[in-house]
Amino acid sequence: MEYRVLGRTGLRVSELCLGAMTFGRESDETVSRQMIDRFIEAGGNFIDTADVYSNGKAEEIVGAALKGRRQDVVVATKVRFRTGDRPNDIGLSRRHILEGCENSLRRLQTDFIDLYQVHCWDPFTRLEETLAALDDLVRAGKVRYIGVSNFTGWQLMKALCISDARHLARFVCLQPRYNLIDRHIELELLPLCLEEGMGVIPWSPLAGGFLTGKYRRDSMPAGARITHAEKHWPEHMQNQANDRSWRTLDVMQQIAQARGRSCSQVALAWVLAQPGVTAPIIGARNLEQLDDNLGGVGWQLTGDELHQLDAASALDYIYPYSFIRDFGMKE
Ligand SMILES: NC(=O)c1ccc[n+]([C@@H]2O[C@H](COP(=O)([O-])OP(=O)(O)OC[C@H]3O[C@@H](n4cnc5c(N)ncnc54)[C@H](OP(=O)(O)O)[C@@H]3O)[C@@H](O)[C@H]2O)c1
Repeated sequence: MEYRVLGRTGLRVSELCLGAMTFGRESDETVSRQMIDRFIEAGGNFIDTADVYSNGKAEEIVGAALKGRRQDVVVATKVRFRTGDRPNDIGLSRRHILEGCENSLRRLQTDFIDLYQVHCWDPFTRLEETLAALDDLVRAGKVRYIGVSNFTGWQLMKALCISDARHLARFVCLQPRYNLIDRHIELELLPLCLEEGMGVIPWSPLAGGFLTGKYRRDSMPAGARITHAEKHWPEHMQNQANDRSWRTLDVMQQIAQARGRSCSQVALAWVLAQPGVTAPIIGARNLEQLDDNLGGVGWQLTGDELHQLDAASALDYIYPYSFIRDFGMKE
């Protein structure tokens, strides 16, 4: 496992981050802890969780597993989505962020969070309030760095400008959805992160399992996550199962076979090869999947293989990105 510096920080994180979204859900506590052990044994030092994963259980599992070795790991968690029934148990208000941080610290059994991320845009709270509350947490030593997930380009750029103008802690990295099926961040967010020196830690690098090779034109794997636990994401699945996706999977399978790799490893190697990407966040429900995914590092796709994958999964440029690409990139 290699280590990469996260954005413009001096923080070194492993090139794969272990996601905890399955902990306490598809993976019971024993299996989740085995996965954490295996990941650390493989050299991983970066774990991503959230207050809402399994209603706080995922943070508890991570906290218990890191007892006695907290200093070995960079722990990232998130705040924003609903954690209770009361009106203020949601959002990016000062109130919810400060309370959410205390609760995460308790569940994680730690006195600091390495990377505290806002989980998504909050249309009801001004960014000034959110950023000041996060800055207070950094100054109080409860949080080392702050990050952001699920923002658009303008929302992220506005946040960075406010932080700079007010000398507040700045988001050091973005956690976007990014994989061979969903490449939309290449239009705006990825160039923005490169320009602003932000790290990028993509979620769902396997498109929730779609890119592992087990989904086929004529059959869905029984019991797999996309087909049941995420029934509230039906449109997500429909968007995935189209001609472009199957074409991409065909190319992935050819490359995987030629290189003696699995489809998952090809998908991860592609994400890792993209300029600006720091560390994809891998998800797994058991040790077999985790071991497979750990094989996404330690080798690289050739230029020709990257080209084939890029061509099969090519992004549809929409206006104004298409106009700028066609007319705005030359003298
Ligand atoms: N910021 C956000 O809004 C956000 C959203 C989602 C996730 N995340 C973070 O990103 C992490 C990863 O996301 P993700 O779980 O969607 O990632 P993913 O890697 O795209 O999908 C993981 C899922 O794919 C299947 N899978 C994984 N490896 C496999 C393998 N080798 N062979 C066959 N199937 C395999 C498993 O589901 P099945 O076995 O059920 O098919 C597993 O749960 C999460 O844990 C979380 O930390 C963040």
